[in-house]
This record gives sequence, C-alpha cells and structure tokens, in this order.
Amino acid sequence: MTYRTDYCGALRASDAGRQVTVCGWVGRRREHGEHLAFIDLRDHTGIVQCVVANAHDLRAEYVLKITGTVRPRPEGTVNEHLPTGDVEIGDCEVEVLSTAEPPPFPISDRMEADESVRLRYRYLDMRRDSMQRNLRLRARVNSALRNAMDRQGFVEIETPMLIASTPEGARDFIVPSRLQPGTFYALPQSPQLFKQLCMVGGLDRYYQIARCLRDEDLRADRQFEFMQLDVEMSFATQEDVFEAVSTAVIAAVEAAVGETPGDIARMTWLEAAERFGSDKPDVRFGMELVELTDTFASTEFKAFQAPCVKGIRVPSGGDTTRGRLDALTDMAKRWGAKGLVWMRVTGDDPGLDSPVAKFLSETELRALRSTMQAEAGDLLLLVADERPKVRHVLGLLRLELGRPPVNEGGLNFLWVTDFPLFASIEDGRPVPAHHPFTMPHPDDMEKLESDPLAVRSQAYDLVVNGWELGSGSVRIHRHDVQQRIFGLLGIGPEEAQAKFGFLLDAFRFGPPPHAGFAFGTDRLVAILAGEENIREVIAFPKTQSGLDPLTNAPTPVDERALTELGLRLLPPAT
Ligand code: AMO
Ligand code: AMP
Repeated sequence: MTYRTDYCGALRASDAGRQVTVCGWVGRRREHGEHLAFIDLRDHTGIVQCVVANAHDLRAEYVLKITGTVRPRPEGTVNEHLPTGDVEIGDCEVEVLSTAEPPPFPISDRMEADESVRLRYRYLDMRRDSMQRNLRLRARVNSALRNAMDRQGFVEIETPMLIASTPEGARDFIVPSRLQPGTFYALPQSPQLFKQLCMVGGLDRYYQIARCLRDEDLRADRQFEFMQLDVEMSFATQEDVFEAVSTAVIAAVEAAVGETPGDIARMTWLEAAERFGSDKPDVRFGMELVELTDTFASTEFKAFQAPCVKGIRVPSGGDTTRGRLDALTDMAKRWGAKGLVWMRVTGDDPGLDSPVAKFLSETELRALRSTMQAEAGDLLLLVADERPKVRHVLGLLRLELGRPPVNEGGLNFLWVTDFPLFASIEDGRPVPAHHPFTMPHPDDMEKLESDPLAVRSQAYDLVVNGWELGSGSVRIHRHDVQQRIFGLLGIGPEEAQAKFGFLLDAFRFGPPPHAGFAFGTDRLVAILAGEENIREVIAFPKTQSGLDPLTNAPTPVDERALTELGLRLLPPAT
C-alpha cells in the first residue's frame, strides 16, 4: 500500500486525466447540492479542491486519503489565487485516516488567534501557512549556513550543555547536581570559552549552530533559549572574520529570499552613535542626529548650557498634536532626558514656533534652522545633556517617530566596528563593554590606564534594519595584555583563576591569536521572514512571561526529587 501518489498543492492542469491519491486535512468545505461537497484538502504543499459525494460526516481537520481523477475545473470556477486553482479531483473515493475534534481556532492565516491559545495548541498553529513557511525558511537558512561554513573549511564541534558559568553578562540557568549535592551546573549562555579552547586545541576554524540559554527578560527579539551561528578562527584578523561571516550571511539570504544582497557596509561605533544615537543603527530612514553644540555655545537659555546639544528633524512633523508632543516629552524623560524642546517650523523668519523660542536669540534660531536644514512644516526635537545621554534619547525618539515595519526597505546589513572597550566607569573602575577577553585596538593601548573610556576595542557587531544580529571580537591571547586588563577591571589573580581559570590555564600552553563571532539565527530568520517577533520562527517558543502553555513548563517537582538533589524550597517570597 502507498499512502499517496501526489502532494495536494502540486496538481496542475497538465495532470488532468490522471488518477491520483492525496492525503491531508479537511480545510474549507462548501456544500454543492444535497449530495456533493467541495472539500479543500490541505497538506504542507497547499490545498486542492476535491468533489466528494455524501461528505456529511467529514468535518474540519479530519485526515483523509482521497483517490480520484484530476480534471479541469468547469469554466468560470477557476481560482486564480490558488496554484491548484485550474483543477479539482473528481470521482473521489475517501478513506478517513483520523477524525478530529473541532479545532480551538480556524486553521487559517486570515484568522488572528490569541498568542497563548496558539502556543497551547502549537501543533495546530503549525498547520497554518505562515508557520509552515517560517519553519521551512528556517531550515533552509540553517542548511545554507552549514554549507557555507563547511565550504570555508570550518569544523562543526558540539560543546557541552552542562558547564560552569560563562561570562556573557545575563543570568545563568542553573541545574543542580545529584551526585555532588549543593553544587550546580550552568547552562551555556554561549559556547564562548569552549570555542576559544578549541583554538588552543589547534582546530583552527570552529563553528556550531549552538543552543544558548540566558535567564533574561523576554522581548520580541529575545527568548530564554535561542540559536547562534557561533564561529571562532585562529591566525585571523577582524577582516578574516568579516569575510567568513559575510559569506555565511549572504548564503543564508540567497537561500531564503533568492536574492544576493550587496556588500555589507561598515560604520564605526562612534559614527553610529553620533549620527543615529545607537550602536545598532537602522539606516533605512533619515532623521539623523544633528550636532548643535556649537550653535548654542554661548546661549542664555539655561537648558541648553550643557556639554552637548543635538536635534532631529521630523519631515512634515509640524502638525504633531500637543498631546503627542507631551507624550514624546514624557518618553524622553523616561529615557533619562531632563526635558525635550520641540519647535514647529513655519514659513516666516526665523520661523521656529516653540514655547522656548523666546529664550533663544534670533541668531541662534536662524543658525538652528539652517544647520538642521529645516523646511516649513517640519518638527524639530532637541535635547541637551551629557553626550551619551543626548545620543541615547534622540536615538530612541528617532526610532519612535520614523522606524518602518521590519519587512520594509530591504535588508540593510551593516558592520559596526571599533566599539569602545569599556562601557562606563563604576566605583572608579572601567566596566567591560563586551567580555574581558576582548583585544583593545592596537592604536589605543597607551590610553588604557590614562583614558580608559577613549579606548577602542577590536569588537564589532553585525546589524540589520536596526536589529543587533551578532557580536564578536579579536580575543586577547597574550598573557601580559590579559593581566593588564584584569588589573584595570579589578579582577585579582584569585578571582580570575576562580572564574576563568581553565581558560587562563590553557592560555599558558601556546594559544594562537584568534578572533570570532556569533549571530542569532532566530533573529536572522525572523528578519528574512518579515516577522517582528522571533517566536514566529521558533517551533516551540515560550510566551513573553517565559511560560510554555503547551507543556505547562516550568512545573513544580516533587519533594523526593528535591531531596535527592539536596534541595529544600523556601516559602514563596512575599
Ligand atoms: P552576544 O551575547 O552578543 O555574543 O550574542 C550574540 C547574538 O546572539 C543573539 N542573542 C539572542 N537571540 C535571542 N534571544 C536572546 N535572549 C539572545 N541573546 C543573544 C543576538 C546576539 O547578537 N560569545 C559572544 C560572541 C563572540 O564574541 O564570539 C556572544 O554570545 O543575535
Ligand atoms: P525648564 O527650563 O526646565 O522649565 O524647561 C523649559 C523647556 O525646555 C521645557 O520644554 C523642557 O522640556 C525643556 N528642557 C529642559 N531641559 C532640557 C534639556 N536638557 N534638553 C532639552 N530640553 C530641555
């Protein structure tokens, strides 16, 4: 016996006259007179119309095997929106392979179902076209990534899931050890330290499509569990990493959308921060940050007597309502600004209509208008503060006001280079921006102690349409440099040994210079699928609150299991 000769979605006019057997689920049905019904039979390739007699008992989502003859649809009944719309299967013999209860939501992309219901019945949700498309797109992307890495001589290595903590900066998921009660494994936030050990081990070029686990608050682009294309290379510079990773990303895009993206552009972190107020600039639209510090260098207006003033111009934003302007001001304050100056650009001279215009001189207003290349009908938004604060707030306002939907404007990949080595100074000590094994920029070594915040690193990100796709760096392989960085960070020899002792030990035995990168494949697939939320491209994701409505995880465990692990629960915190 064979179940089927053809897929539902594959039948065409050229199949007319053939006897076929197809299998699938009952989709839409329409009655045709008393004894006949049109049934749309659906499998993963699409649907085909079957003309079935005495179909009264065949309900939605029943699983059928239908044998019949392909024939052209009668004139006037052709459905041009359907690939199989020219044909139908007639003289059908039906075998019911499975019955089905009425599904909790219709299996159709046209019907929006509640997220938690979709996830509770994910296996039904998966029958919808969009989920089928997304999961198959994901498989194509993974396969293209693997091929591209294999072709470039990378070795796929699997690293362990039960490990000691990794220094990625999120919270670890921990797993109690039964054999060593009171001790815990951490689940890997990334394979970072292991891939570096593979370089010491002479593997030369490592890759893995690696599962990573981080206990952090979930968002549209964040899950507890996610996948990275993780890469490490020996005797490699930043340029070598860009080349290898670009090749993989371009292969993935080709496999997914059938188009070859152009060369990936580059921008330094400083330029991204100054022009877009972000380390992951969305370059699909303008509204860039305009430098106004000099314009207000000798202003009388108190609010602008600050180390930095910048503004953005919202083209034709002049009709923004007062309510919305107040809301934008509140947002800016929530993001840390002291306030927000707004100005409507009018036709006269100097033509800036704002509650604070009276505090500014005519010269300042004219200079402002010309520096911002403002035109009548525009809206200007200005913030004054410390430079990082100004960039941050205006960068977010820019996105709030101008960001296009994820699937508009093509794919704008961008390498952001020369990240600062340190993010800030806290308690008199610099805080690393990436991890403590990131190599400083060779030109900035002498500033390490004297001006740490000005030190660039050999760390880089890959950005697409305003999403951080991935990060990487050239690593420190030299003992003296590592000691200097640990010294600056206040990590003493004991702490270093306790935290990363095994890596430092390995580095005593001839570590090659090496560099690497990792990018989130969930994010890449989501962007390629035009989805705003990575849940849409993950088969079994968690909800925003970290729950799995399908299996009910996380669940309590019974007392005995806890005892075996040497654990006792505290009463719930109040
Ligand atoms: P990083 O921590 O920047 O770098 O992570 C790399 C990429 O992984 C993806 N990612 C996530 N995707 C979904 N959900 C999450 N919770 C999540 N967290 C991170 C992002 C991110 O850009 N070991 C270093 C890389 C290296 O230096 O080689 C690392 O993991 O797309
Ligand atoms: P104030 O002088 O605090 O009454 O503020 C006058 C106007 O300037 C208000 O509209 C504030 O929102 C705005 N403002 C105050 N401080 C700043 C600042 N640092 N940057 C931008 N606008 C500000």
